[in-house]
Amino acid sequence: MRLDRFLGNLPQFSRKQVRLLLIAGRVRVDGNTTRDPLHEVREFSLVQLDDEVLQAGKPARYFMLHKPMGCVSATQDDRHPTVLDLLDVPDRHELHIAGRLDFNTTGLMLLTNDGQWSRRLTQPQTKLPKVYYVETEQVIDERYVARFAEGFYFAFENLTTQPAHLTLLGPRQARLSIVEGRYHQVKRMFGHFDNKVMRLHRESMGPLLLDERLKPGRFRALTAQEVDSI
Ligand code: URA
Repeated sequence: MRLDRFLGNLPQFSRKQVRLLLIAGRVRVDGNTTRDPLHEVREFSLVQLDDEVLQAGKPARYFMLHKPMGCVSATQDDRHPTVLDLLDVPDRHELHIAGRLDFNTTGLMLLTNDGQWSRRLTQPQTKLPKVYYVETEQVIDERYVARFAEGFYFAFENLTTQPAHLTLLGPRQARLSIVEGRYHQVKRMFGHFDNKVMRLHRESMGPLLLDERLKPGRFRALTAQEVDSI
């Protein structure tokens, strides 16, 4: 929300007072004086008038989890364990998943309470590469590489997938980089060749790599540098 609206919504200030407080340089957001009425105030922002705290700002939280097989990318499920069950942190139900993985897909999963941050990570427009290690039932050959780069038409969504970069690692192993995260996207891409994905593991999302010290099922908070890299 804009700073002037945030202040105007408080019962103690009229619109005129808000303007004067801003001009006088008495308002600080996250410790910095700002006179800009359009300055963005988020639920995480600390807002002060002189030394009085108008909003304390709730902590923004960011975690990476090594998702194991056999767990659901949902916050609640009646039959199976969920990724949230693995996150032993307070108020974990305030967190959401930035980019789901299928039940048996493993690897990097990010969870946060910051919706703007997770949108930057997952929106196709941002074009952040998501890198997967893939093992398939049938042999993968060079034809796949060109076809993945061209894109596939997905009738259900009525779209053509963005160019994807496939690197062959072995007869049935590859590394795939995609910038979107459509429903079952990797399996559907290999499905065009009637080739079943047997193992799927997400290694990275943009600049964030799965910490190799994290065993399946384990998690850690992101560092400030990792958070800022998105
Ligand atoms: N694509 C899939 O098909 N499954 C996943 O879990 C992730 C990407």
